[in-house]
Amino acid sequence: MRPYELIKAKRDGQPLPPADIRAFLDGYTQGDVTDYQMSAMCMAVFFRGLSDVELAAWTRAMLESGEVLDLSETKGLKVDKHSTGGVGDKVSLSLAPLAAACGVPVPMISGRGLGHTGGTLDKLESIPGFRVDLDVPTYRRLVKDVGACLIGQTATLAPADKKLYALRDVTATVDCIPLIASSIMSKKLAEGIDALVLDVKVGSGAFMKTVEDARTLGRTMIGIGREMNKKVVAVLTDMDQPLGNTVGNALEVIEAVEMLRGKASADYTEVTLALTAEMLVQGGKAKTPAEARVQLAKVIADGSAEAKLCDIVKAQGGDPSAIRELSKLPRARHTTTVPAPRAGFVTGIDSEAVGLAAMALGAGRAKTTDAIDPAVGFVLEKKMGARVQAGEALVTVHYNDASRLDEVKARVTKAWRIGDAAPAARPLILERLE
Ligand code: URA
Repeated sequence: MRPYELIKAKRDGQPLPPADIRAFLDGYTQGDVTDYQMSAMCMAVFFRGLSDVELAAWTRAMLESGEVLDLSETKGLKVDKHSTGGVGDKVSLSLAPLAAACGVPVPMISGRGLGHTGGTLDKLESIPGFRVDLDVPTYRRLVKDVGACLIGQTATLAPADKKLYALRDVTATVDCIPLIASSIMSKKLAEGIDALVLDVKVGSGAFMKTVEDARTLGRTMIGIGREMNKKVVAVLTDMDQPLGNTVGNALEVIEAVEMLRGKASADYTEVTLALTAEMLVQGGKAKTPAEARVQLAKVIADGSAEAKLCDIVKAQGGDPSAIRELSKLPRARHTTTVPAPRAGFVTGIDSEAVGLAAMALGAGRAKTTDAIDPAVGFVLEKKMGARVQAGEALVTVHYNDASRLDEVKARVTKAWRIGDAAPAARPLILERLE
């Protein structure tokens, strides 16, 4: 089928032959299928979905749009973690050095901010000099010699996803289970892993707003992994409020380093330890998550996790002294606070609204070509369950450009719900799927 016929078939709910899906995605990677045709196809997939057969063909075509790495020169089981995306989700920044410090090699291909969510690559680039555009030979060498390497997609690793990810970001086709599953799994399967831990975020700041949808997404990705002979575990975690106390690139790096010093917020610490413990079990370094936690506590207490982060930063062209002395990271010129409009308890935080407010501040992109301001963002002073007085700060805003400050403050004020009684506590780890 020609692109027009294939788009029409999906629009009308007809099955797509795997060979045609392959030709369509290959055509897109090579530039023969245009962005507007791919946008129309993604919107048709958004409404019609993909059958299991179509999804397998779609994912394989994305995976095989580039090189599929074999990292067998690195000893041991190579394990990665990937999040489906959230607000304040800085887990990868602390998890990669923690796992590597415990002897699990971590090959990690990450993404940039997508929609209202932040991206690991943008956070890493707030460390002066840090490069995420390393070539494949350097990536291979660093996984072997340093124990972890965090890069973006290259022209040779899952290039179809690189193009499609940016297109979906601006065409309202991100929050679609088959498109998320194929995007994540194509790049993860290309990077040379033996096993994968998935952090499927659920709640107001996630693409999956309900546990049912998150479970479907987790099971879909586990199914793709099984097809490709990779062990995949999915953990459903809470994203009904931003994770940790910071949102914004350099601010999140600071919180990640504090986690490696054992001094970060309880929710962020717990999610990071739970996911890294899964990695240690998958990587054969611990028999149980409880045993893994003992090792993780040790590398935090003896400083080797922070030292590993410095090694990673140095190996990727960054300045490790900015990790040791956090004041060397980019800092916004001004701060202001958003006051609580009334007294009571914080009963909810619309995390998607917080992500969009961070974008308006300059921490994320509205268009693919937008530059990011690494210094700006929010420090969350009152999270769910906290008691507040009228006028007390809910959030401290770090900003450089005041032109949209009123809009940002209005968005933040609207995102916080304040009621008369404390809300029931929600579990952070909602479910584990294997
Ligand atoms: N993360 C990805 O890598 N891809 C998506 O589509 C969503 C989150």
